[in-house]
Amino acid sequence: MLRTHNCGILNLTNVSEKVTLSGWVQKTRDLGGMTFVDLRDRYGITQLAFNMDTNAPLCAKARQLSREFVIQVIGKVIERTSKNKNLPTGDIEIEVSELIVLNKSKTPPFTIEDETDGGDELRMKYRYLDIRRKPIKEKLMLRAKVSAETRKYLDSRGFIEVETPYLIKSTPEGARDFVVPSRMNAKQFYALPQSPQTFKQLLMVAGMDKYYQIVKCFRDEDLRADRQPEFTQIDCEMSFVNQEDILQMFEGLIRHLLKQVKGVELKSFPKITYDDAIKLYGTDKPDIRFDMKFVELTDLCKGKKFEVFNSAEIVVGIRARDCANFSRKQLDKLVDFVKTPQVGGNGLIYCKFIENGISKSSIDKFFDNATKNTWAEKAGCAEGDLLLIMAGKEDKTRKALSLLRLHLAEELGLRNPQKFAPLWVVDFPLLEWDDDSKRYHAMHHPFTSPKANDIQHLDNKPDLVRANAYDLVLNGNEIGGGSIRIHDRKLQKLMFKHLGFSEIEAKNQFGFLMDAFEYGAPPHGGIAFGFDRLCALIGGEESIRDFIAFPKNNSGRDIMIDSPSEIDSGQLDDLNIKFS
Ligand code: AMO
Repeated sequence: MLRTHNCGILNLTNVSEKVTLSGWVQKTRDLGGMTFVDLRDRYGITQLAFNMDTNAPLCAKARQLSREFVIQVIGKVIERTSKNKNLPTGDIEIEVSELIVLNKSKTPPFTIEDETDGGDELRMKYRYLDIRRKPIKEKLMLRAKVSAETRKYLDSRGFIEVETPYLIKSTPEGARDFVVPSRMNAKQFYALPQSPQTFKQLLMVAGMDKYYQIVKCFRDEDLRADRQPEFTQIDCEMSFVNQEDILQMFEGLIRHLLKQVKGVELKSFPKITYDDAIKLYGTDKPDIRFDMKFVELTDLCKGKKFEVFNSAEIVVGIRARDCANFSRKQLDKLVDFVKTPQVGGNGLIYCKFIENGISKSSIDKFFDNATKNTWAEKAGCAEGDLLLIMAGKEDKTRKALSLLRLHLAEELGLRNPQKFAPLWVVDFPLLEWDDDSKRYHAMHHPFTSPKANDIQHLDNKPDLVRANAYDLVLNGNEIGGGSIRIHDRKLQKLMFKHLGFSEIEAKNQFGFLMDAFEYGAPPHGGIAFGFDRLCALIGGEESIRDFIAFPKNNSGRDIMIDSPSEIDSGQLDDLNIKFS
């Protein structure tokens, strides 16, 4: 070994020991008589001391070291005269007797410090240098811990890990597929899996009973902070279970992870139906770290001369506790936010409840105190509270108010990343109308079972059919989703029909699954968690990028290896691909 210890482990108990350390030069400080070098590796930083009086040539050599040189030193552990309480190794330093430069380094394009001067693109181009920085390194270490604890939990409950293929046929999960041309089968393509959905169901038919896999998935969709074109799922499936069994098992997983990785004990997870989530929060992934539920004021607002309310499908508000002291400027800023294109609201009405039943609103011309007090009563507003109201078309208004709710909570410091508020959203609609293709799509995926009592509505009122589908939401982010599956060939065929598949199309795409259902498919269901998202949230962040060692940028490019890139004409010929 090129070292006896790592750079994060030595302390006063090691004083007088002779040690060998290896690592990177973080920083050198030349104080005339003494030169100090901070030596860094994955485990920490240890100070090296070179004394001009006792070993001038060695000290001179140390002064030649530049940032990120790789060195090995031999020396004695001594107690420091001025200690650094911020460092686990801050009580000691190494009195160096031998210094070997293992490799030189060019000056790095950005500082390898906790706070770096490197912009996003530069850090991505030199990702291997970025990973040397503590914040990124720690995120990858957290990811490894989440992965190890996931395996521990699932292994201990009898799940077995099975790998499924990456070169498959397309699965309809809603996004576009990444495809791979086949050389041996001219003009034919594999698709990279958007998820191993059909394979895990086949594993249930195969009798594997409890399956999991920490697996890469690929989706060619528009990218955002919480989306990457290749991402990882904790993918799971179980046989002979109902929805409640799955919720319990995987609530247990998330509870285990938060406990082991963060030391946080979570209470049992609340459940909300999809309909209630939309009604109370305007979204199917509510952040319940704070309250601010929607209050419907439609009936209390109509019939006066205010046309905005009279013509609205819905009038809905949120109570901002203790915010009646918001200034004009603060309120104007909220109005501006609501009108931004990403929110798309028409406007925002405010009402401040001051004292003794007196309130002040932006529409005092139309509404007297008594009417406004009926709003206060419905919304639970007390003196000192502010009521923010939006009106208009139902869907659009709820969506906009939901964004305002998050924005306001952010401003009020109510979205503490160290607080964890999980929530199951259940009873999703089975189908969702798509205006572009003028047909229904499966809201989760085509293998999700409808609620038994709702099957009767499939023909006449498909909007009313609910699914045995559930999502796990953490701090307003969808971290997992799953369902109880259809395991009956006839019902699966009916589902495909309702999704607009012809018999031939259904057979071509999913004949293998329908065939399998004829050989004793057990009742089964499962769930998949977005592993990157889960790690990011456990790490207190919403962007997943730094929890992935080598992520893509927002255009789907890896700028370090410069991919995607063209391929040479010989390869294109092999693949039978011609560009006109
Ligand atoms: P679903 O499509 O809901 O379900 O995906 C499961 C979870 O994967 C995460 N996720 C993503 N994370 C990062 N980047 C992306 N592009 C991305 N897309 C999805 C989300 C999501 O909740 N086969 C089903 C699961 C099942 O039914 O068992 C499926 O894939 O956190």
